[in-house]
Amino acid sequence: MTDTEQKPILCVGITPCVQRTLQFKRLELGEVNRAHAVTISAGGKACTTAHVLQALGERPVVTGFIGGNTGGLVETYLRQRGITCDFITSTGPTRICSTVLDETSGTVTELVEEAPLPTGEDWHNFDTRLMESLVNCGMVTINGALPPKAPDYIYANIAQKAVTLGVPLLIDSQRTPLLNTLAYQPLLIKLNRRELAETCGGDLANDDTAMIHAARDLVARGAQWALVTHGPHAAWLVGAEELWCFQPPRIKARNPVGAGDSTTAGVAYALRRGQTMTDATRFGLACGAADALTLVPGDVHPEVARRLLAEVEIERVK
Ligand SMILES: Nc1ncnc2c1ncn2[C@@H]1O[C@H](COP(=O)(O)OP(=O)(O)OP(=O)(O)O)[C@@H](O)[C@H]1O
Ligand SMILES: [Mg+2]
Repeated sequence: MTDTEQKPILCVGITPCVQRTLQFKRLELGEVNRAHAVTISAGGKACTTAHVLQALGERPVVTGFIGGNTGGLVETYLRQRGITCDFITSTGPTRICSTVLDETSGTVTELVEEAPLPTGEDWHNFDTRLMESLVNCGMVTINGALPPKAPDYIYANIAQKAVTLGVPLLIDSQRTPLLNTLAYQPLLIKLNRRELAETCGGDLANDDTAMIHAARDLVARGAQWALVTHGPHAAWLVGAEELWCFQPPRIKARNPVGAGDSTTAGVAYALRRGQTMTDATRFGLACGAADALTLVPGDVHPEVARRLLAEVEIERVK
C-alpha cells in the first residue's frame, strides 16, 4: 500500500445529530404511543458514512460542528467505536433526529430537527482546521445538506481546497451548494432521485429519460461521475462517455435510513482500493442494501455487504 492509500478518508458533515430510532408495534397519530425499544446512535450523514468506513476496515476522520450535551453524545458514540473525531465545538446544541418504525405497517417515518447555524467565528475555525485535515487525508466525502441560512458556497470552498491539494472528492448533497462545487470537478456526485429533481427541476419520478438528461447535465457542468439512487429501484451511473444501470439486491428492508450514506462509504472504500467507478458503485449499492437490513443507520456488516455484492446487477446502457 502506498503512502497516499494509507491516508484517512475525511468525512465532512456540517450537521451531525443524535439519532434516536424508536420501534412501535403499531403507531397511531393523535394517540399515546409507547415505544417498545429505543436505540441511540450518532447520526447525520458524515457520521453514518464514517461508521460504515470504520466497519469496513478504514480509519476515517469525521468533522463538522457539534455543541452542548447532545454534541458530547455524538462524539462519545463515535470515539467508543474507534472513529477519529475532529469536530469544531459551536455554541448551538447538536440536534436530535428521530426515526419512527411502525412494525405493523412497515412504515419508516423521519422526524428531523434543523441544525443550528454556526457563527462566523465557528466557520472561521472550521475553515482553518479543514485545510490541515485535507492535507493529511487521501479522499474527502461531503455529506448532507447545510443548515438553513448557511452560505451556499461552503461546499464549493471545500471542493476548491480539495482540488488544489489533489484530494479526490465525493459529494452527497443537492441544490445550489452542490451545483456550486461542479466547477471544481468532483470525482463523484451522489443524489437520490428526489434530490436530483429538486436540484435540476422537473418531475423525474417516473421519467428515466428526463432523469438521465438531468444527471448528464450535472456531468456536463463539471462532475466526473453522477450516481442517482432510488432505494430498492434501479440506480444510474453517468460519466462523460458512459451510462450504467444497476439493480440493487432484492431484500426485505428493516430501516433504509442511512442507505445512501452507506453507499457513499462503500464507493469511497472501493475506490481507495483501486477499483473502477463501476465496480466501486456496485460495492456501494451492496453496502446501501446491507444498511437497509439493519436497525441502526450505518450498522453495516461487511460480510453481508460482500454477500450482497454478487446480487447487484449491472448493465452498460451506453
Ligand atoms: N429497500 C431497499 N432494498 C434494496 N436496496 C436498498 C433499499 N434501500 C436502499 N437500498 C440500497 O441503498 C442505495 C441507496 O439508497 P437510497 O436511494 O434510499 O439512498 P438515500 O435516499 O440517499 O438514503 P439516505 O439519505 O437516508 O442515506 C440504493 O441504491 C440501494 O442499493
Ligand atoms: Mg441520501
